[in-house]
Amino acid sequence: MQIPNMLESKKRGQSKVKIIKEEYIIDQNMKELGKGKKYHIKTYGCQMNIRDTETLRALLEEMSFTWVDDFKEADLILLNTCAIRENVHNKVFGMLGHVKHLKAIKPNVIVGLCGCMAQEEVVVNKILNKYKWMDFVIGTHNMHRLPIVLDEAITKQKLKVEVWSKEGDIIENVPVKRDSKYKAWVNIMYGCDKFCTYCIVPYTRGKQRSRRPEDIITEVKELVLDGYQEVTLLGQNVNAYGKDFVDLNYNMENLLEDVSKTGINRIRFVTSHPWDFTDGMIEVIKNNKNIMPYFHLPIQSGSDKVLKLMGRRYNREKYLELFNKIKEAIPESSITTDIIVGFPNESKEDFNDTLDIVNKCKFDGAYTFIYSKREGTPASKMEDNITIEEKEKRLQKLNELVNEYARLSNEKLLHKVVPVLIEGYSEKKSDMLMGYTDTFKLVNVKGNSKYIGHIVNVLITDTKSWSLNGEIVDDN
Ligand code: SAH
Ligand code: SF4
Ligand code: F3S
Repeated sequence: MQIPNMLESKKRGQSKVKIIKEEYIIDQNMKELGKGKKYHIKTYGCQMNIRDTETLRALLEEMSFTWVDDFKEADLILLNTCAIRENVHNKVFGMLGHVKHLKAIKPNVIVGLCGCMAQEEVVVNKILNKYKWMDFVIGTHNMHRLPIVLDEAITKQKLKVEVWSKEGDIIENVPVKRDSKYKAWVNIMYGCDKFCTYCIVPYTRGKQRSRRPEDIITEVKELVLDGYQEVTLLGQNVNAYGKDFVDLNYNMENLLEDVSKTGINRIRFVTSHPWDFTDGMIEVIKNNKNIMPYFHLPIQSGSDKVLKLMGRRYNREKYLELFNKIKEAIPESSITTDIIVGFPNESKEDFNDTLDIVNKCKFDGAYTFIYSKREGTPASKMEDNITIEEKEKRLQKLNELVNEYARLSNEKLLHKVVPVLIEGYSEKKSDMLMGYTDTFKLVNVKGNSKYIGHIVNVLITDTKSWSLNGEIVDDN
């Protein structure tokens, strides 16, 4: 049994990151383990987890398991979890409640938990005490060992926990089963060294480890050959890409330039911490038309006092300076953000500073959250002196403002023609197609299946706060 350790996961040593590149092989005797069996994965959290699920799916399918949409019909249920806020925790434990009932009727169902919650000591202790009926827990750093862990859980028939807290290496050549044939997630780095005081990610994902540029470029070139139109470069703080190389002077600016040269039609990247954003990056994005004019630039708060308590390493003036620089260089760009309300000691004035910066930036969209105390982080020791009612009031007020600016920014596109990558049929209206503009706005479009997977020009005919409607005017 290897259980997580928060103190261990906080350490940042000098040890060199190992890139493990051996051909990934699943033992012959495990290849048949899932024969005739169905699996279902529930994914919570960010794009990192969505991408991890694509690897988990590939691993399970190499073991002959087949996907089923309804978890109640599955022989293997895996929860790929997120630890970022308490409400996600609650959702996961709620789901485990449903799964427990199912296991009472179908005792052979195998139940596993992976992802960021698996890296939390409190979660694993809770599972060991109260969820002994589960079959396995596997951490984010050793996800590639799923076949081995699963095999052991099945043969030994008792709860198997394998979570590594060490800093982590980079394992290349792990298989992937991508959700889309047109757009792909490409990890460029793992982990985070920023340690914002409220955030659990540096503990659950380990130290920053950048993938080697040649591995990323090779992956993108293969995607181009496979007909992919779009890649999203993924990391918790992509602007810091390359800062951890000891033998190489290569940064995000260089990577964007090289990925651009692969000829892929669309490049996106998330997430950008404002601290590491360079003028050089803005230039490269401006000069390469296949790098999309869309920036997710989390601000978190508009108050200098709160930003300092959060350990964000910039103030509102610096943020505004960067924001304006991007808008000046690339006027058509859209910028979205993340905001936390109700951080410990956030006064009414501090909150008003947040509203004020939203009024100045007029974001195209914002993900807004009530601060959630995460065990083991520095902010968890700060006195949380704001009532939940007050936090909810602040969130609502902020959301009203954010929605209004989202609506206004969409309205500006009315009667304009914009490029849209058509991804498939709309979930809500099955006779409509859906896709995203270069500026990452969701568009519902009339049209037939021949457009799926293509970038087409769309005339915007109607706008709402969170989506646009349009008509295809020509194939691009
Ligand atoms: N790496 C990204 C953020 C990843 S987490 C960045 O630094 O920009 C996504 C968002 O969740 C954060 O931007 C933050 O707004 C929110 N978040 C993180 N920890 C939180 C917490 N403890 N309580 C509430 N929201 C949180
Ligand atoms: Fe968390 Fe900050 Fe790292 Fe983002 S940069 S993942 S908010 S510690
Ligand atoms: Fe959640 Fe882990 Fe992503 S905590 S937000 S799934 S990195």
